[in-house]
Amino acid sequence: MSKASALLAAGIALSCWTTLASAASQEPIQPVEPAVIKEPAKVELGKKLFFDPRLSRSGAISCNSCHNLGMGGSDNLKASIGHQWQQGSINSPTVLNSSLNIAQFWDGRAKDLREQAGGPIANPMEMASTHELAIQVLNSIPGYRAEFKQVFGKDGITIDEVTGALAAFEETLVTPNSRFDQWLRGDKKALTVRELAGYELFKNSGCVACHNGVAVGGNSFQKMGLVAPYQTDNKAEGRAAVTGKDADRFNFKVPTLRNVALTYPYFHDGEAATLTQAVDVMGRLQLGRTFSPDENAQIVAFLKTLTGDQPAIQYPLLPPSEDETPRPEPFVK
Ligand code: HEC
Ligand code: HEC
Repeated sequence: MSKASALLAAGIALSCWTTLASAASQEPIQPVEPAVIKEPAKVELGKKLFFDPRLSRSGAISCNSCHNLGMGGSDNLKASIGHQWQQGSINSPTVLNSSLNIAQFWDGRAKDLREQAGGPIANPMEMASTHELAIQVLNSIPGYRAEFKQVFGKDGITIDEVTGALAAFEETLVTPNSRFDQWLRGDKKALTVRELAGYELFKNSGCVACHNGVAVGGNSFQKMGLVAPYQTDNKAEGRAAVTGKDADRFNFKVPTLRNVALTYPYFHDGEAATLTQAVDVMGRLQLGRTFSPDENAQIVAFLKTLTGDQPAIQYPLLPPSEDETPRPEPFVK
């Protein structure tokens, strides 16, 4: 496929972005807004659940195990380690700014954060619990019973409340104020000449056709290997697994590039260890363009300016289990 038709296939006309617009509103990327916290008690409860390993059968794996908020909301592994050290099938995407995604998961099979949050708890490869068991555990803990009652105004914890609280917490995990956003907002000294040159290259060579908007991605599904096929042993089919359409084979949700310097390794199979590698693959396979080492380094320098303020997390104190709380089962019986 030619470069031009490849970009058309990406669904977005590139020409409108090739002129350097000075006003932020005319840039294809917009700044991340800080979180507006409407229900602080629900967010606080969601934070506890996010860090609570008792949502897993082993009592050892929490959401934070694979989406470590001290490491850009990811685990920095090719594929995650799940229940009983099982090797995960796909790279763990960051939870930072995930509320900005059009849908959740690489193939978009969950429509929003609420729907997503039920998945890992019951996934035998991940937390390996069941919704029934997780609810039984939470209902047995007086501290949680009281807190759920306070937040949801009734007795008896439900899975919808659990996923609702988790989603409310995740919605606060945005990363405003990156140097690039400072530049977008008019601080022309926020970027170096080299970083700005990287941004120009990012726009003019066509990266921005897929990586645009507030999250610099996350808002469409696109083919991995548009110009030349991507070789991988990973079995993921992408969007086709959801739609059943052959045309969607190997279409993945375009990942956000916010905080991308923190979320290595890259791609759904985690095969690109560094940003240099990822940019090289993207140039060749998505745009039919081989960047010189210097051009590549300029783009990487730009991408590193997308690291925003990380959520300031005070580690939550988790209410203790009671005598009747189902015990964790970390080892094979
Ligand atoms: C064992 C590791 C592991 C655990 C534990 C885990 N996740 Fe994930 N998470 C993943 C992987 C891997 C994916 C990608 C799966 C896919 O796309 O098929 C993912 C995807 C996500 C996404 C979608 C992000 C995006 O950009 O599409 C969100 C949000 C998320 N997880 C939140 C959670 C929450 C909340 C919990 C706890 C209830 C949790 N995860 C527990 C590994 C894990
Ligand atoms: C046609 C759409 C498209 C274009 C053009 C494109 N990308 Fe991507 N990009 C994707 C998709 C889809 C993925 C995920 C692929 C996968 O994981 O299999 C991705 C992944 C990435 C990643 C890895 C992110 C992560 O967290 O795993 C980086 C970095 C990246 N792109 C940078 C770029 C750069 C730089 C350019 C321009 C040279 C570019 N992209 C052009 C669609 C595109």
